[in-house]
Amino acid sequence: MTKTILITGATDGIGLETAKKLAADGHQLLVHGRSDAKLQDVVTTLKAIAGAGPVQAYRADLSKGAEVEALAEAVTADHDHLDVVINNAGVFKTANPKAQNGLDIRFMVNTLAPFLLVRKLMPLLSADGRVVNLSSAAQSPVNRDALMGQADLPDGAAYAQSKLALTMWSAHLGLQLGDHGPVIVAVNPASFLASKMVKDAYGVAGNDLGVGADILVRAALSDEFASASGKYFDNDRGRFASPHPDATDPAKNAQLVAALDQLIQERDL
Ligand SMILES: NC(=O)c1ccc[n+]([C@@H]2O[C@H](COP(=O)([O-])OP(=O)(O)OC[C@H]3O[C@@H](n4cnc5c(N)ncnc54)[C@H](OP(=O)(O)O)[C@@H]3O)[C@@H](O)[C@H]2O)c1
Repeated sequence: MTKTILITGATDGIGLETAKKLAADGHQLLVHGRSDAKLQDVVTTLKAIAGAGPVQAYRADLSKGAEVEALAEAVTADHDHLDVVINNAGVFKTANPKAQNGLDIRFMVNTLAPFLLVRKLMPLLSADGRVVNLSSAAQSPVNRDALMGQADLPDGAAYAQSKLALTMWSAHLGLQLGDHGPVIVAVNPASFLASKMVKDAYGVAGNDLGVGADILVRAALSDEFASASGKYFDNDRGRFASPHPDATDPAKNAQLVAALDQLIQERDL
């Protein structure tokens, strides 16, 4: 049966590769990007794939809270049901690491945007739905001041902290929802896959993007992930594994989620 799948950051890298694989299987795709021109190209590419189902494009800069909310509203206006949300969009290095709202752009795009988006889209997701959050092998303990926009971090530290924060929220929400909500799973798609992010960050060409796309398709659709809520899949090891120890501590996860809630309530994102 075909599914309705929203994938963020579908205009490049792993997200684009994943969208191509899902299109080939006829799923209804909601592709998100931040550039109208890139989105138009992606829609053309996906529609040209044999067997492709409907494709809709949504533009939003996920470094801006208002645009994250508008994305959720646009999706909700068009759809009353989603089967899968893949929170794939991410940033490592950028010329200006401060988002307009004063937060580090890695925390904003990689952690808060998925947090806010899923919160807004939850009414569209049923208990057999899935949320796939793109984690990473790079995970470092979250510096609360940096998360709250009160301290600056180097690129690598900001990225690794934003990814652990996402993984902690994932574990927390999975535990909280149990069998009553969609499966929430964090996935490291494998390290050093050949995207522009990896080229910019590490100066290496990287490995086959298909490795990352294949695991995202499995996480979105296969039975092996049907009871994976709150878990972390490490595709460097090819199996479910323990994330950074902080993400296995329910009290730390709850504290982190409380900080995300505070940011959303007190800040004009
Ligand atoms: N590649 C790896 O080895 C690797 C390893 C571990 C985890 N990951 C994770 O996998 C995900 C995909 O990364 P990738 O390697 O495929 O990188 P990528 O090629 O740079 O793709 C990132 C995607 O996110 C979008 N994006 C970035 N900033 C955005 C913003 N402010 N608003 C909206 N969209 C934004 C990009 O849009 P544009 O097309 O406009 O740039 C692009 O579609 C990320 O979450 C990354 O952290 C990747």
